[in-house]
Amino acid sequence: MIKKCLFPVAGYGTRFLPATKAMPKEMLPIVNKPLVQYGVEEALDAGLFEIAFVTGRGKRTINDHFDTSYELEHQIAGTDKEQYLHGIRSVIERAVFSTTRQSQMKGLGHAILTGQTLIGDEPFGVILADDLCFNPGGDSVMAQMVKIFRQVRCSIVAVQEVPPDQIHKFGVIAGEQVRDDLYRVTNMVEKPAADEAPSNLAIIGRYILTQDIFDYIKDTPPGKNGEIQITDALLRQAKAGCVMAYKFKGLRFDCGSIDGFVEATNYCYEHFYKKQAAR
Ligand code: G1P
Repeated sequence: MIKKCLFPVAGYGTRFLPATKAMPKEMLPIVNKPLVQYGVEEALDAGLFEIAFVTGRGKRTINDHFDTSYELEHQIAGTDKEQYLHGIRSVIERAVFSTTRQSQMKGLGHAILTGQTLIGDEPFGVILADDLCFNPGGDSVMAQMVKIFRQVRCSIVAVQEVPPDQIHKFGVIAGEQVRDDLYRVTNMVEKPAADEAPSNLAIIGRYILTQDIFDYIKDTPPGKNGEIQITDALLRQAKAGCVMAYKFKGLRFDCGSIDGFVEATNYCYEHFYKKQAAR
């Protein structure tokens, strides 16, 4: 039913300079796998196999990563090093990739609108690779959201409770609770001050959007920081129809910050890499 997933990957990653001077931040490795590959694996896990990248200048290696490297394949064919390519080979086999470029950085809403040409007229997922999510032993966050979408058939944002000193970093929702983990959104504010936040429920980088979002984005003027915010477009959609907020099950690491990146690295080293290496 939903088969496409959009990855806005045009950002500069200035918080990671100088590492990101000549390399996309999405290619920074969490242990031995680039950040963006975790996101693509999550999309595939949720059944979204058409992967659409909205890139920018200097992001070519993302496309190269999801393509066959003939020299490398040739070089290690028949050696035990081939095992290191199994993961990425399987991603490449299962997914179809397309790319478009955002020529100006005008915000997340604008990046998503740029992707319209790849998405067309159908509902789609959005994954912000900076937010690395795991749900050990259960459905991935995007897979959980696809299940909710089957029931509600409208746009969904993933939310988590965050403490007051963190709230200014997020889009924040207010809503009517319809069940333990689900709210019908009544208000949304992009990066409010703690004392102006409508709740402690912060949006994290997972969305399912219905295709009418593109029209709402086109009608959305620049908001916070002079950028076209997806949060503002979603509020319009919520007021005209329906947007749900889903309190997901699992863990989220903010890999857009150095602290979150290091925490994610330690987590993946302990939970995935060491176990894999022990086999
Ligand atoms: C974006 C969104 C924000 C959301 C956040 C999640 O902000 O604009 O609403 O809470 O992602 O990571 P960014 O972190 O890209 O500034």
